[in-house]
Amino acid sequence: MKITAAITGVGSYVPDYVLTNKELETLVDTTDEWIVSRTGIQERHILKGENQGTSVMAIKAVEQLLAKTNTSAAEIDLLICATTTPDLVFPATANIISAAIGTTKAFSFDMQAACSGFLYALTTGAQFIQSGTYKKVVVVGADKMSSIIDYTDRSTCIIFGDGAGAVLLEPTTDGLGLLDHELCSDGRGEQHLHQKAGGSRRPPSAETVANREHFVYQEGAAVFKFAVKNMADVAAQVADRNHLSANDITWLVPHQANKRIIDATAQRVGIGPEKVMLTIHKYGNTTNATIPLCLADYEQQLRKGDNLIFAAFGGGFTWGALYVKWAYNPSGIMN
Ligand code: UT7
Repeated sequence: MKITAAITGVGSYVPDYVLTNKELETLVDTTDEWIVSRTGIQERHILKGENQGTSVMAIKAVEQLLAKTNTSAAEIDLLICATTTPDLVFPATANIISAAIGTTKAFSFDMQAACSGFLYALTTGAQFIQSGTYKKVVVVGADKMSSIIDYTDRSTCIIFGDGAGAVLLEPTTDGLGLLDHELCSDGRGEQHLHQKAGGSRRPPSAETVANREHFVYQEGAAVFKFAVKNMADVAAQVADRNHLSANDITWLVPHQANKRIIDATAQRVGIGPEKVMLTIHKYGNTTNATIPLCLADYEQQLRKGDNLIFAAFGGGFTWGALYVKWAYNPSGIMN
């Protein structure tokens, strides 16, 4: 019997503070109408306070996941954190999360693939389950995007928000879970979407700070074109390869970067808006957290055997799509 990696639970966390489009109107030259019509975003959550890193949100998401799935930290074999805004350059945020939740045998590491990071991490974690090596793998996607956003740049500050989402992967032989993946990257995309300073090429200095080089630099229109084409193509490719017609797909779970990119992807795989998970209006683009936050918000509507297509596009460029057969019913509904 083939072992596959099933998602057996979801946890999530968004910080309390809500940054509305109205408040952004007071910071930069923009309007609620422009933001809603060009992106679909109405508000996003922001982690406030001194010394509050991405791990603060990730820990809360993982703790909720463990409580919901009745899992003890000691049972976890591996914890992967997908993040582009780690607490520190090192150690890995995954190590910080593991220490906080009290794992005893897990090894843990970060994965950095910008907005596609959660799909890369989920696929990586699944390999350890499929090979029979591990029984319980936690994959958490978390970002404090507000830590690298320039709130004087109207083309980026309206898009991003903070949040975290986590899933538990466990083995099954019932044909459920992650059944196919297609992950891609093309480093030529660097020029269009990057952070100029803070890494080894351009370490932090008074000059890099003065030049505002520690923030997201994005050529929005160029990224938009690549995102629409690549995310839609790869989602369609994974659906076709698995003989999934539009009718067979229960849910599209797209990275939430721009409502127009999501609509184009849904159109390409031929499904209507009622089958598309959407949270962008309330969370904005939370980078590595968008897909697990969608799963958390829609968990009560998911049924065992549902066919889900996950799709993402982000900095790198990186992009990809996964075919996941959902493995459980909401509590209260018999398996
Ligand atoms: O998640 C990882 C990957 N990232 C993405 O997928 C993001 C992809 N890109 C986008 O979502 C969109 O390109 C943006 C939302 C970033 C921008 O929307 P757009 O429709 O592509 O606008 P644009 O950059 O082509 O700019 C059009 C106009 C410009 O004015 P001019 O030069 O035509 O006078 C901008 O200055 O809109 C202006 N503009 C704004 N106006 C009001 C840009 N940002 C704003 C704003 N409010 N916040």
